[in-house]
Amino acid sequence: MSVPVPSSSPSSAPRRRIAVLISGRGSNLMAIAEACAREAWPAEIVAVIASRPDAGGLAWAAARGLPTVALDHRQYPDRASFDAALAAAVDAARPDLVVLAGFMRILTEAFVQRYEGRLVNIHPSLLPAFPGLRTHRQALDAGVKLAGATVHLVTARLDHGPIVAQAVVPVHAGDDEAALAARVLEAEHRLYPMALRWLVEGRVSVDAQGCVTQLDGQAQLLIT
Ligand code: GRF
Repeated sequence: MSVPVPSSSPSSAPRRRIAVLISGRGSNLMAIAEACAREAWPAEIVAVIASRPDAGGLAWAAARGLPTVALDHRQYPDRASFDAALAAAVDAARPDLVVLAGFMRILTEAFVQRYEGRLVNIHPSLLPAFPGLRTHRQALDAGVKLAGATVHLVTARLDHGPIVAQAVVPVHAGDDEAALAARVLEAEHRLYPMALRWLVEGRVSVDAQGCVTQLDGQAQLLIT
């Protein structure tokens, strides 16, 4: 599986183009945009594309001067036609990386295949545990004492695919879904920028089994 090509020196690094896809408040988008600017990644966010015009993150992105696109999924008769419009919006931005950040739509196989190797997602569980919806409820019901988040390359199977990095947080007695989600979200805001920066800088490789290695030997696990 291909990942962005490593560059020899930061000054000669090509600037990577990032498209971020959101559906809601966009706190991960904000963490990514802020880290990209603060740490002067060799990258820029070239599009923020939302599946709902009222996504909070869209207004934040527009106020920050980022190019935004709102696609209302309810205006499309089926998943395939929505994904075709989405792919057209993504392609118009010519991204090197397509970043799902709270994008709450299941993508068609055609869409996933089109961006394979450069389509990234964050899921708020320690995958492969608890994929899909109500992940925090699933974790609490299972009685796990560790929860967390996973950044992975997207494959056709929902919430699967090569794991780039994970963050772990404790589950406390008495946690409800909101408490656990808030603790995991804080970890996500550190994890996603870290993993994306590696991808932007070409500092990971993926082997034939889908095992991802950080090429500088940095820990692919954040313990919070
Ligand atoms: C995050 O928990 C993300 O992992 C999940 O949806 C949530 C989105 O939050 N897929 P935000 O829109 O980034 O604030």
